[in-house]
Amino acid sequence: MHISDSIKYIGCNDKTIDLFESQYPVPNGVSYNSYLILDEKVAVMDTADPRVTDEWLGNLDRELDGRKPDYLVVSHMEPDHAGSIKAFLEKYPDTTVVGNAKTFTMMGQFMDAALFENRKHVVAEGDTLSLGSHELTFVFAPMVHWPEVMVEYESTEKILFSADGFGKFGALDCDEPWIDEARRYYLNIVGKYGLQVQALLKKAATLDIKTICPLHGPILTENLGYYIDLYDKWSSYKPEEEGVLITCASIHGNTKKAALKLQEKLEAAGKKTMFIDLTRDSMSEAVARAFYYDKMVCCACTYDGGLFPPMQDFLHHLTAKAYQNRKVAFVENGTWAPQAAGKMKAILEGSKNIELVEPVVSIKSTLNAASEAVMDELVKNL
Ligand code: FEO
Repeated sequence: MHISDSIKYIGCNDKTIDLFESQYPVPNGVSYNSYLILDEKVAVMDTADPRVTDEWLGNLDRELDGRKPDYLVVSHMEPDHAGSIKAFLEKYPDTTVVGNAKTFTMMGQFMDAALFENRKHVVAEGDTLSLGSHELTFVFAPMVHWPEVMVEYESTEKILFSADGFGKFGALDCDEPWIDEARRYYLNIVGKYGLQVQALLKKAATLDIKTICPLHGPILTENLGYYIDLYDKWSSYKPEEEGVLITCASIHGNTKKAALKLQEKLEAAGKKTMFIDLTRDSMSEAVARAFYYDKMVCCACTYDGGLFPPMQDFLHHLTAKAYQNRKVAFVENGTWAPQAAGKMKAILEGSKNIELVEPVVSIKSTLNAASEAVMDELVKNL
């Protein structure tokens, strides 16, 4: 795959990985993107995950077609991109490694510094590197998604090498829309760092960008405003759609029955809803959908005097990703001492701008006429 006559794709698809970052299911795999710029000087833009080192080195070798790389640009030290640096440095002992001060500190933690110490080129924010007719400008993007991250703008072809930004789960040859897997990727991986993404978007707005080359997922060449607008929305914690996400953690099914009844009532009232069973459905999809909608109802049982763990786990995932600016309601169940709502509320207490929608629906074992009347009140308030 060629980005242009002088910029080649040398990344790899990984369709055998079960969990990305050991926690996110990737049913359609993932791609580790890497690029090669062939000019008077030759630059390799990032490496790939150690799972594909041999394939990646083969792609590089084929596209080099006998030339030698002058530079290896390291945008991000996370092993899904930096995991083949060591093998690369051993194979190409004359290549200069380009990174910032933090890049090299981290690199020395992942491998013996003797491998790169005498051939490193340390860049600062705004520095440029001329390759001939192409020129790279280094734009720092700390915490998008690690502190050392930088993106590179190539001014001749107007390409932004955007590191993890604008990435997506899914191998490049899978046939699926960009948005759902890009949302799940962004909110679960970079979601906590909205402020930092906003800062990067401000810097990017000053650049004339024709193509975005991320480190995962497809190369973006058309309608870039669509992707940038979504990133602006996600990173400023604005909902994508008005509607109610109903999340449910039920032990024997009675809480689930109540949650489904709530969904039925909300739909009858004209609300858009989505139901997620936290005991079965994907955690990362639940997190992504919680950010997608402006409202959420959490329905859970009391368990061992606390909160049923699937809901507890979910809410901790949400707070870890800086869940905020949403309206939240609670449905709790308990056969002798329902107290799940208080526990759920306590987890969300430190979250910014969470408005609680009353009343709490408190169920003893099964929904009855009295608790259903409270549910009707909640439906009205939602
Ligand atoms: Fe795709 Fe943060 O690495």
